[in-house]
Amino acid sequence: MDTYNNIIFRTLAGNLETTDEEFDQIYPEELRALSALHWTPVHIAKLAAEFLAPNANCKVLDIGSGVGKFCFVGAAVTKGSFHGVEQRSSFVTVCNALAAQYEIPNVSFKNENITNIAFDAFDAFYFFNPFYENVEQTLIIDDTVQRKEGLFLAYSDYVYQQLDQSKIGTRLVTYHSIWDDVPNGFQLEYRSLNGDLSFWTKTEGQ
Ligand SMILES: C[S@@+](CC[C@H](N)C(=O)[O-])C[C@H]1O[C@@H](n2cnc3c(N)ncnc32)[C@H](O)[C@@H]1O
Repeated sequence: MDTYNNIIFRTLAGNLETTDEEFDQIYPEELRALSALHWTPVHIAKLAAEFLAPNANCKVLDIGSGVGKFCFVGAAVTKGSFHGVEQRSSFVTVCNALAAQYEIPNVSFKNENITNIAFDAFDAFYFFNPFYENVEQTLIIDDTVQRKEGLFLAYSDYVYQQLDQSKIGTRLVTYHSIWDDVPNGFQLEYRSLNGDLSFWTKTEGQ
């Protein structure tokens, strides 16, 4: 299968430049239109994935995986495995179809709410501001899910509790997140993009 889109994955895997415009061709037009605001840019996904999956045994969870852009890029540029949890079923259908179409073995996607996922099955986590549409009108994706301020707090609290219980060595990348609430045991390794992209490792705790 030597389609244009297939070449995009091979280009990424070969560590060559791929623009967002090129990568987003894998998606239907209506999902491409959401990319600039809601999906991780390719160069950010590469940086984050390389930190989160330094070897083949690393299992990375994308908390609110959208249409899978972070997971697909991560799977192409590292040897780790990338797992998405996403509350919108139509996005997960798209992700599973693309994973099958492009025969990408190291990704999986689940249509679930994050509150039904136990974090102890994973080594690392990616967090791109997933709950903010509950409190910020300009970030609403569509009307297929319930939104309210209480959910922002409940989901954030669940993630905090799960990270707090995670093992030493757990890695975390936060992107565009107001994230004063990373549990104490996580050490900030470095920050870039004026603090919009932060890399953490758990060094204390259980
Ligand atoms: C900003 S998008 C990020 C998508 C993806 N991580 C990326 O970087 O390309 C956040 C996604 O989180 C999903 N989401 C929000 N709250 C969720 C929850 N409680 N459980 C699962 N998914 C959720 C939204 O539906 C949306 O698709």
